[in-house]
Amino acid sequence: MADTEPNPELPIGAEKDPLWYKTAVIYELHVRAFQDSNGDGIGDLPGLISRLPYLKSLGVTCVWLLPIFPSPQRDDGYDIADYYSINPDYGTLEDFRRLVEEAHRLDLRILVELVVNHTSDQHPWFQEARLDPASEKHDWYVWSDTDDRYREARIIFTDTERSNWTWDPLAKKYFWHRFFSHQPDLNYDNPAVQEEILNVMRFWLDQGVDGFRVDAVPYLFEREGTNCENLPETHAFLKQLRATLDREYGPGKMLLAEANQWPADVRKYFGEGDEFHMGFHFPVMPRLFMAIRREERTPIVEIMQQTPEIPDNCQWAIFLRNHDELTLEMVTDEDRDYMYREYAQDPRMRINVGIRRRLAPLMDNGRRSIELLHGLLCSLPGTPVMYYGDELGMGDNIYLGDRNGVRTPMQWTGDRNAGFSRADAARLYAPVISDPVYGYQAINVEAQERSKSSLLNWVRRLLQIRQRYPHFALGTMNFLHPTNLRVLAFTRHHEGQTILVVCNLSRFAQPVELDLSAYEGAVPVELMGGTPFPVITQHLYQLSLGPYMFLWFRLDDAPQGGST
Ligand code: NOJ
Ligand code: CA
Repeated sequence: MADTEPNPELPIGAEKDPLWYKTAVIYELHVRAFQDSNGDGIGDLPGLISRLPYLKSLGVTCVWLLPIFPSPQRDDGYDIADYYSINPDYGTLEDFRRLVEEAHRLDLRILVELVVNHTSDQHPWFQEARLDPASEKHDWYVWSDTDDRYREARIIFTDTERSNWTWDPLAKKYFWHRFFSHQPDLNYDNPAVQEEILNVMRFWLDQGVDGFRVDAVPYLFEREGTNCENLPETHAFLKQLRATLDREYGPGKMLLAEANQWPADVRKYFGEGDEFHMGFHFPVMPRLFMAIRREERTPIVEIMQQTPEIPDNCQWAIFLRNHDELTLEMVTDEDRDYMYREYAQDPRMRINVGIRRRLAPLMDNGRRSIELLHGLLCSLPGTPVMYYGDELGMGDNIYLGDRNGVRTPMQWTGDRNAGFSRADAARLYAPVISDPVYGYQAINVEAQERSKSSLLNWVRRLLQIRQRYPHFALGTMNFLHPTNLRVLAFTRHHEGQTILVVCNLSRFAQPVELDLSAYEGAVPVELMGGTPFPVITQHLYQLSLGPYMFLWFRLDDAPQGGST
């Protein structure tokens, strides 16, 4: 297991809490979408810096930036044309260093993307590779004279791609790509590629970042006769990435894996605590949405029971929505049909193997179910990763292409362009949401700051409570088994204290009887209001839950000689 003790040999500023990511709350945002400072219609780093106090006051502790590098933007920046600088639309390296400095001053951490699998076809490496097959760069990509190698590898972007091979008329060969045909995969069999990616990581660590969300990690190597995912060679390289991080930058830097795989396969990306610190829990995500629509707990319980233990220095990243489609790759065919039927009746809502909608529209703007999903996000084992705008209940625009409908400008005020930019509306990188339900006139930070009962203020309060109780981040989890399947109940146990979580997944009120006899004599204290509930006895504990209601209790020892 990697060393997590503070190391006196490390330079000044090295990490005081090497396991910070286990108790973090991560906020994912696109610089382009957050705040425009110079009126060109595109969000930028100075704009983001000016909004850091908002993020601090929301209660998140870490900000994950979607790609900020020069790029033709055909995959929103995941098509990188230069790994060592900042997209000029967003600012300069100096702006970036200032962002890191300002964030750290506020005790906020910064994660950036490490896009390891592919580059843009506009990257000078690829341009050299295709123009000159004798060049050193040629072997940085994966080429073939035919398009029938690695047939067992699935196609990921099923709506746009027919093959993982694309003919290049200049090189007169096919090149390999797991994503868009303008995103050639790097050739990890070439040690020079491996070394270059280590250098990219070093470069951004030198700019002060706290870690990386590492993009598309399962696909680094290709081997005939396999599906080219999760190969041992891929894990070996990722372990090398981690070892370099630990050796050269010490504990406290973090790697978060984007591996959209089944739990047993994701487990391997934690290694023996010597590969990734964190991994997204992709399978639980769609099952949260399934459970709430079916009004029963089974999908959540089943997937959590299939989730393997992970090493002590590792943590799951739990999320509801992100910048991509709500992916349905990790569910059965039957469940996928169900999800499409329930959540994406309009074909425009579907893309690839998933649903391109935001959280609030998925819940039909139902405040109670939006709250319940946030409650689950913050109480299931792992670190919550929130997506910008979901704390307001922002809407989406399914008429924009690709996944852009969930990437519209942040809604700050009811003023022009939602307070996002002073540019003419036509110049914005994307139109603001302006429909009567989710439009910026109705849904914006300023208005919600003013209203004590707004979703924003409710989310703030939820995060405060979560952060007050390390049980949610660090505790073990045990399910209770009430006969009413519409109720999900579990405990989180940490350092001798227990928290009880009870959730009504139904849109109607539900009774529940919980076997809490193991805690006989304890008093459940509800965490939002601090109200003590009746003492636990050896009998079944009865609760009535309103529609989509969830309750968090601390189980306190009963005062000596008394009962409630
Ligand atoms: C994963 C990213 O989340 C997604 O947005 C991107 O399109 C693919 N990687 C390919 O780069
Ligand atoms: Ca700008």
